[in-house]
Amino acid sequence: MAAIFPPAANLAAKLVLLSLAGLVLAGIGWWWLFPRTDYARHVDWTVDQPVPFSHQHHVGGLGIDCRFCHTTVEVAGNAGLPPTYTCMTCHSQIWTNAALLAPVRRSLAENVPIRWRRVTDLPDYVYFNHAIHVAKGVGCESCHGQVADMPLMRKARSMTMGFCLDCHRDPAPRLRPPEAIFDTQWHRTPDTPSPAALMAHYRVGGRNLTDCSICHR
Ligand code: HEC
Ligand code: HEC
Ligand code: HEC
Ligand code: HEC
Ligand code: HEC
Repeated sequence: MAAIFPPAANLAAKLVLLSLAGLVLAGIGWWWLFPRTDYARHVDWTVDQPVPFSHQHHVGGLGIDCRFCHTTVEVAGNAGLPPTYTCMTCHSQIWTNAALLAPVRRSLAENVPIRWRRVTDLPDYVYFNHAIHVAKGVGCESCHGQVADMPLMRKARSMTMGFCLDCHRDPAPRLRPPEAIFDTQWHRTPDTPSPAALMAHYRVGGRNLTDCSICHR
């Protein structure tokens, strides 16, 4: 027997087992953990756009309401991106010769929409709907961050399943009064209705929001 299993075989077997365990751990790290990190999720990344549109200038500075440009956010699943003529309501009067705005003028002249590139995107197998969140008191900021401070749009949250479930398990403390939904700088004050009062006001709580079929249908 000794000829078949020399003493060193023990050590070799242990080494093989150890490295297998190491491989499994590395595998878990790579296939499971890494894709969920903020880095892999491009959190805080900006995207190159045809025009360097600034929410900081237009929302923070000029005070334009989200709904002026994202017109369907209260009524549809999609928030919608503004068509060129929305920009031209102002830019046919101001900054009319700015080189930065050349793609906007070209888009209008040639009647070809500006191709904005996406910053936040969910996989197709997830159902999402803006209207219900707005109707139930969830502010844009909860998912998109301090948009009014962003010179270029960046992805503020990871948008993983865990991120959604975090709130769906206990939405009460994150709900806002109706007038605060579009205000990305809003903070709770002593005058804000309590979480329980907001839950009752919006009638949230009838459904189990962590049911798989809520988001996967
Ligand atoms: C309500 C009026 C208004 C609308 C609508 C508007 N803008 Fe502007 N925009 C301005 C003003 C005013 C400035 C100058 C801001 C400054 O310098 O503080 C500006 C500046 C800019 C600039 C120069 C860089 C900067 O941010 O200062 C770009 C680029 C621009 N706008 C793109 C757009 C695009 C694209 C749209 C449509 C999605 C749009 N704007 C819609 C008023 C508007
Ligand atoms: C003057 C028009 C205008 C206003 C007002 C405006 N936006 Fe936008 N928004 C745009 C344009 C144009 C884009 C596409 C370019 C970009 O990503 O910066 C955009 C992109 C976005 C995106 C990224 C969409 C994606 O996934 O690609 C979010 C999120 C967003 N806006 C949120 C808001 C919020 C929240 C408000 C109000 C606090 C707001 N916007 C006000 C014009 C506007
Ligand atoms: C509960 C989280 C959440 C809230 C609240 C929210 N959004 Fe979004 N938003 C998303 C997600 C997720 C996407 C990507 C959707 C997709 O890929 O199908 C998105 C995409 C967008 C887009 C890109 C165009 C589109 O419709 O896909 C814009 C613009 C936008 N949101 C603006 C807003 C504005 C303005 C508000 C506040 C009125 C708001 N969002 C509130 C999660 C949210
Ligand atoms: C900050 C809190 C919050 C976050 C974050 C959030 N939700 Fe919600 N969600 C709610 C509330 C509140 C409701 C409304 C519950 C009700 O109607 O009783 C809701 C409802 C929904 C519904 C039900 C829509 C319908 O018409 O039946 C879907 C789907 C949904 N959310 C998907 C998502 C997804 C996907 C994400 C992550 C990208 C997300 N939510 C993130 C608070 C949140
Ligand atoms: C509040 C919305 C929401 C609910 C409820 C929800 N999911 Fe998800 N799920 C998501 C989102 C968002 C993603 C996409 C995450 C991403 O981009 O990787 C996802 C991704 C997944 C994936 C793909 C693998 C992964 O983890 O990325 C599986 C599998 C899955 N969900 C299963 C489930 C099951 C099973 C349930 C019920 C126990 C459930 N989900 C409930 C939002 C939800």
